Amino acid sequence: MSCWATRRCGSRATKGSSGTWPCDPTRRRQGIGTRLVENILQTGRLHGARQIFLEVRETNLNAQALYLKHGFDVVGRRRAYYSNPKEDALIMRWLLIR
Ligand SMILES: CC(C)(COP(=O)(O)OP(=O)(O)OC[C@H]1O[C@@H](n2cnc3c(N)ncnc32)[C@H](O)[C@@H]1OP(=O)(O)O)[C@@H](O)C(=O)NCCC(=O)NCCS
Repeated sequence: MSCWATRRCGSRATKGSSGTWPCDPTRRRQGIGTRLVENILQTGRLHGARQIFLEVRETNLNAQALYLKHGFDVVGRRRAYYSNPKEDALIMRWLLIR
């Protein structure tokens, strides 16, 4: 599975990729995912990001729960974005100013 984020600073948009982002199955629910998300958000804040986007498989409810917990909202969908298995991606967005 993969996800990526887009940061928008003023009128400019920059992209950063987190690529494939698996946490070792034997070490899940120990806060590693939380630290990764907090690091992305902190980096975004430091670089003046106003919003950060990512994509996540529609059926990946665990990752969605992680992102929702950190203030991301679902704002869109990319049809058949993933393959093996073919699946939609949900686009989630975090806003600095709400
Ligand atoms: C999604 C993933 C990165 C979460 O990493 P993690 O280190 O287990 O997450 P954390 O321990 O920090 O959990 C933080 C929150 O995520 C959510 N969450 C994580 N695993 C969950 C699970 N199995 N069921 C329900 N919610 C889950 C919960 O909201 C959790 O908060 P809580 O423990 O207070 O309920 C990890 O499960 C993983 O590597 N999955 C496979 C790869 C993947 O999906 N990568 C992301 C692609 S976009």
